[in-house]
Order: sequence, then C-alpha cells, then structure tokens
Amino acid sequence: MSIVIETIKSRRSIRKFLSDQIKQEELDTIIEAGIYAPTGHNDQPWHFTVIQNKELIDHINNEAKKNMVKAPIEFISNMGKSDKLHIFHGAPTVIVISGKKDATTPLIDCSAAVQNILLAAESFNIGSCWIGLAKFFFQNPGNAEELDNFFQTNIDDKFVPGSVEKLSIPEGYEPYFAVTLGYKASKDIPTPKRRSDVINYIK
Ligand SMILES: Cc1cc2nc3c(=O)[nH]c(=O)nc-3n(C[C@H](O)[C@H](O)[C@H](O)COP(=O)(O)O)c2cc1C
Repeated sequence: MSIVIETIKSRRSIRKFLSDQIKQEELDTIIEAGIYAPTGHNDQPWHFTVIQNKELIDHINNEAKKNMVKAPIEFISNMGKSDKLHIFHGAPTVIVISGKKDATTPLIDCSAAVQNILLAAESFNIGSCWIGLAKFFFQNPGNAEELDNFFQTNIDDKFVPGSVEKLSIPEGYEPYFAVTLGYKASKDIPTPKRRSDVINYIK
C-alpha cells in the first residue's frame, strides 16, 4: 500500500495525549501541510491561531462548556455538564482555524486544510483530533434554529464578547473549529466502521 493510503487509513481521532509538547519543526511542517490544501479561487482564506498555553486552553474549554450547557440540544448540553469532558482532551497544542468571511469558499477551504493537518500529524505519529465543539467558545446559539446552522455558517457575527479578541483573530475572519495535536497516549484505537454503501458507478 502507498504511504499516503496507509497514513489516511491509520489516522484516528486521538483523545488521550502525553503532556510533552510536540517539536517546533514538526508543528511547522504540519501547518505548512495545511496551507498546501487547495482553495476555491486560490483565495487561501485561512488563519491559524496556535495555542500552547495550558491556562488559555483550559479557559477556552471552561467557557465553551458553559455555552454548551445552554445549548438547546440534549446531548450537547449533557456534554457541557460532564466533569469528565475536556473538549481538547488534554492536548498540549490547540490550533484554532478561522476563515476569511468574504472569500469564495472559506469553510470548505479551511476544512481541506484541517484534513491535511490531521494527515501530516499522523505521518509523524502525532495524535490529532478535529474539534468542532471549540466553536462554543466563540458563539452561543440561543435557539434550535441557530444551532442548526451553527457549524455551517456564522450566526450574524454574534461572537461571545471578547472571545475573538482574546485569540487575536484578524478582523474579517470567523473561527470555525480547532485541531488538537500531541504525542499519543492511547494506542490501537478501533477504527469506526466505514459505510460501504456510498458509491455508485455509471459506466
Ligand atoms: C467537523 C468535525 C467536528 C468534530 N468535532 C469533534 C469534537 O468536537 N470532539 C471530538 O472529540 N471529536 C470530534 N470530531 C471527530 C469525529 O468524532 C471523528 O472523526 C469520527 O468519530 C470518526 O473517527 P476517526 O476520526 O477516528 O476516523 C469531529 C470531526 C469532524 C469532521
């Protein structure tokens, strides 16, 4: 099997990390892989906020969970209430990915960058996880309709006051999600079964 296919298939969402920080050279290469993703109109409409400060990572977790508790969907609200959940799973590096709102396809482009980041991390045997829940630090959907669109679009720029500024996210950019990175503390994570009934051929 090619190394690329092996890396794609062996990557798992890692939710247990060692506390040692990953090496700067590894991080630089992983982010560089992100910015080599394709983008609509070649806009490259992304910004990466790399957070390696445990106090700030814990603060984002705590504030996000407070908003999750208020979410009008039970499983999210229950996750917010859980003492066991740290939304970043104890990872020593968290990258918040923000998209330039007036670009052609910023959410899609940032998603492509994230996938490159996850695969680059796996190629160094570094654990990673895509963290959609990070968005609750920035936005606080007050009703079910807002929650429906929550992960797709911005909610009319209704950011939690101070949250975007705290992370120095540039003007005109919207934080979409985060990625965690760290050396793996769990091994042999089972692969969630992939659906196989998702292809049709027309020849
Ligand atoms: C858009 C998106 C958001 C996600 N958000 C979270 C999250 O907040 N927390 C988490 O632990 N995993 C999150 N995941 C990881 C998925 O749960 C995981 O990819 C899925 O269960 C399949 O497992 P695998 O990544 O090991 O193949 C997210 C994945 C995606 C694509």
